[in-house]
Amino acid sequence: MALGISLVHLTKTFWKDRQTSFKAVDDVHLDVMPGELVTLLGPSGCGKTTILRMIAGFERPTEGRVLIGGQDITDAAVNARGIGFIFQNYALFPHMNVFDNVAYGLKVKHTPPGETGRKVAEVLELVGLKGAERRFPSQLSGGEQQRVALARVFAINPNVLLMDEPLANLDAKLRIYMLAEIRSLQKRLGATCIFVTHDQKEALTIADRIVVLNKGRIEQAGTPFDLYANPASFFVADFIGQANIFRGRIEVIREGGLEVSFYGRSLSVRGNPGARFRGGDAVALAIRPEALVLGETEGALLAGQVLSRVFVGDKMEYVIEVEPGFLVNVFEPFSRDSQLFPVGSRVGISADQRDVIPLPV
Ligand SMILES: Nc1ncnc2c1ncn2[C@@H]1O[C@H](COP(=O)(O)OP(=O)(O)O)[C@@H](O)[C@H]1O
Ligand SMILES: [Mg+2]
Repeated sequence: MALGISLVHLTKTFWKDRQTSFKAVDDVHLDVMPGELVTLLGPSGCGKTTILRMIAGFERPTEGRVLIGGQDITDAAVNARGIGFIFQNYALFPHMNVFDNVAYGLKVKHTPPGETGRKVAEVLELVGLKGAERRFPSQLSGGEQQRVALARVFAINPNVLLMDEPLANLDAKLRIYMLAEIRSLQKRLGATCIFVTHDQKEALTIADRIVVLNKGRIEQAGTPFDLYANPASFFVADFIGQANIFRGRIEVIREGGLEVSFYGRSLSVRGNPGARFRGGDAVALAIRPEALVLGETEGALLAGQVLSRVFVGDKMEYVIEVEPGFLVNVFEPFSRDSQLFPVGSRVGISADQRDVIPLPV
């Protein structure tokens, strides 16, 4: 049965030496719904692993509680929590064959051999490795080893599945395949899952909901689409997708939108549900590279010179220099009929005002 996970004002303080402490995890408050797959996304060192270790019981919170299915398990023993944990280096036992690797957790729990055999067969079928029971890890590809690691965890029927960058050691193609695989297995088994990654593409691909972390704190949580369309901060706008950031000032606040000054002109832009503004405030204006359009300089938002142009298959990536040191990325979809702008030429840059995202400075 799927159980929800609640992190209640979770904090972890580490001491660098006797005098200096720092909060690796700082007041993290989060409810994960039963059966939900949430990714914790953030740069290296932002506290992702420490959060997972506190949920699993390898680390004691300095403050706050961990609840699973409404039960406070903050002080429970590791093996009493019903949690399956997959680390980055999923370390199968090299001297054990696939069957014994997968059966390991069941044997530890003194499961009768008949039941163990049935369960191992069931999960190996689930991960597509039926018939591989007698093979050893060294005889398996990276992807197969990863699937054995998944089977080993699924065999113990975890209510909660914690994964810490489980695909970091796989090549790009296999990673995409395994992401789809993990998501479908997780949904079929109905286990509640927290999946840690520093890779925004992984997070966007696999998550029901993404929690963006920065320096131990939650920056923003939302569906992949929410975070992409309505980032609440520069950090999120830049971490999920790419963003050009422009400077502006708020002239007027209206219902549903803002009037901003933008390089000597007035623009009406939409509001931002995740942010608060006051008239006269400086504001950062984020525009996605794919929301910008190149063309005539006449009537354009900005003008500049094409500094570089790179064809990446489905689109042309331009860098436009508006002023020395003020560079703007523009992605234009590419087809046979696309107008191309040569390096060195002068171009106008425009955007639909609905694609201008105001952010607090
Ligand atoms: N046992 C520990 N003692 C001291 N500092 C730690 C310990 N574990 C992690 N840290 C520090 O806490 C911060 C967060 O680490 P971690 O949770 O591993 O980040 P992430 O998984 O997001 O890369 C880092 O600065 C790391 O160096
Ligand atoms: Mg980590």
